[in-house]
Amino acid sequence: MSKKNSVFIATSIDGYIADKKGGIDWLHAIPNPGEDDMGYVAFMKDIDALLMGRITFETVCGFDIDWPYAQPVFVLSNTLDEIPESHTGKAFLVSGTLSGVLNQIHTKGFHRLYIDGGTTIQSFLKEDLIDEMVLTTIPILLGGGAALFAELPHALKFELVGTKTYLNQITQRHYRRKK
Ligand SMILES: NC(=O)c1ccc[n+]([C@@H]2O[C@H](COP(=O)([O-])OP(=O)(O)OC[C@H]3O[C@@H](n4cnc5c(N)ncnc54)[C@H](OP(=O)(O)O)[C@@H]3O)[C@@H](O)[C@H]2O)c1
Repeated sequence: MSKKNSVFIATSIDGYIADKKGGIDWLHAIPNPGEDDMGYVAFMKDIDALLMGRITFETVCGFDIDWPYAQPVFVLSNTLDEIPESHTGKAFLVSGTLSGVLNQIHTKGFHRLYIDGGTTIQSFLKEDLIDEMVLTTIPILLGGGAALFAELPHALKFELVGTKTYLNQITQRHYRRKK
């Protein structure tokens, strides 16, 4: 089974995934009356499991919606002792080196992973562990906040697989790691 680590994330024009207060309301700045999923449903069909940082996990837990994932969610944390009872059976705690964590998840039979959370994505990129990125740009300059990208030990080349425009306002680029 081929293994794949994928990113599917929205940023501001200036590359932030959360604003200065940690807010993400701006993700919905463009009216979307037809509830276009902007490729999310198709992307999720190709995913076996999610691996997200603790902050993103807690953010999703705080949404006033039903648990949005059908696949298991592995939560990276060195501080959580356990997953809250409300999410038992849906989310699973993992810690350690990224290669160790990935081995653990692959051994359980999950190979195509959605990697989510800013710091988490940055850690994966530092170890060159991201195979594809779908980056959706919301037309807003936040001027600060949590940046998607950080410094890397060296440059990583990607090739453009496709671009799409949604709602005449939102651009989406799909990149694949070129080795
Ligand atoms: N724009 C979007 O589409 C989008 C998508 C996802 C998230 N977000 C937003 O982005 C913010 C969350 O991103 P974030 O950068 O703060 O955090 P994150 O990546 O979700 O979580 C970071 C946490 O993950 C844990 N962790 C353990 N091992 C790690 C490792 N090797 N590498 C990285 N993290 C590790 C640590 O938790 P412990 O401290 O418990 O050890 C760390 O504090 C939230 O505001 C969220 O709403 C936006």
